[in-house]
Order: sequence, then C-alpha cells, then structure tokens
Amino acid sequence: GGDFNQKIDYVFKVVLIGDSAVGKSQLLARFSRNQFSLDSKATIGVEFQTKTLVIDNKTVKAQIWDTAGQERYRAVTSAYYRGAVGAMLVYNMTKRQSFDNMARWLEELRGHADKNIVVMLIGNKCDLGNLRAVPTEDAQEFAQRESLFFMETSALESTNVETSFLTILTEIY
Ligand code: GTP
Ligand code: MG
Repeated sequence: GGDFNQKIDYVFKVVLIGDSAVGKSQLLARFSRNQFSLDSKATIGVEFQTKTLVIDNKTVKAQIWDTAGQERYRAVTSAYYRGAVGAMLVYNMTKRQSFDNMARWLEELRGHADKNIVVMLIGNKCDLGNLRAVPTEDAQEFAQRESLFFMETSALESTNVETSFLTILTEIY
C-alpha cells in the first residue's frame, strides 16, 4: 500500500538471478512484503513484485523480477533481461557450487543486459554461518575483479535485505 495516487518519478527494473534454492524468491518476499517462508516452492517461469520508495525526494518504483534457477522452468532469457537497470546475482553461502556458478550467471547477464547495468553479488543465508562454504574474502575478491557490489544477507533474519536493495536502487538513481 501507500502508493495510491502517488506520482512516480522513476521505474527501475531489477532482476534476480542465481541457482535454484539460493533464496531469490524469499529475498524478494522479505523486501517487498516483509514476509518469509521456509517451505518456499521453486519458481516456475517469471514473477515480479513492486515496491515504491523515496530516494532523494524522488518517488522510485522498484520492479523486481524473479525467475527460476532451474533451467527447465526458466522463461525466455532475453525478455527477462530487457530494460533491467539493476541485477542481483545470488548464491547460497552454504553451497560452494552456487558461488562457483556465479561466473556463468554473470556471463549470461552480460550477454543480455545493458552494459551500464548495476550488479550486486549477494551471499544469502548468512544466518547459517556455521555451515559457511564460501569465505567472505573469496566473494569480495570476485566482486572486486568483476566490479560488482557485494553483500551477505539473510532473508530469514532480514539481515541486509533492505540495505542491499536500497544500495542497488541508489546506485541506479
Ligand atoms: P528457485 O525459485 O528454484 O530458483 O529458488 P529460489 O532461489 O527462489 O529459492 P527460494 O527463495 O525459494 O528459497 C529456497 C529455500 O531456502 C526455501 O526453503 C527458503 O525458505 C530457504 N531460504 C531462503 N532464504 C533463506 C535464508 O536467508 N536463510 C535460510 N536459512 N533459508 C533461506
Ligand atoms: Mg524462486
């Protein structure tokens, strides 16, 4: 609520990408509705949510797109990336493979998105710190090499979720 009759200055499309089960949909649920579900189902096709925020006295409508990490459930790639001005590359910090696949996701992103897109690397599930399989330094190094912003988040505990979306939206703006 809250955006009834509101004048929108900007609409920013941000896409979420990364392997299945890293927590893309729950990051979006947390950001857009302050909700979280432990038995979240795999996304099929494409979904999106919007959230309206004020940045620098301008009303910004964030349109966050979420798709399936699983290849067989993914929709047409070029349509997904079209018009995106921000992207969140999400891995699960307790699953090394999901981090190792970030290079592939980044390659797909760079192949389809505008070259000026703002990209943030997200290590999700930091509430499971005792199961960590990706050292913060490895992610920082990758982010630095590829010129990405980087944050560790927890959709479950709300850690850095708002901050990461706000950072990317402010950078776009
Ligand atoms: P696809 O739609 O298949 O691509 O997966 P997804 O990346 O959207 O994953 P989803 O958000 O559905 O989350 C997968 C599982 O991880 C669910 O059981 C979530 O409850 C859980 N999960 C998501 N975020 C967190 C988190 O921050 N911490 C913990 N502990 N679990 C999380
Ligand atoms: Mg999903």
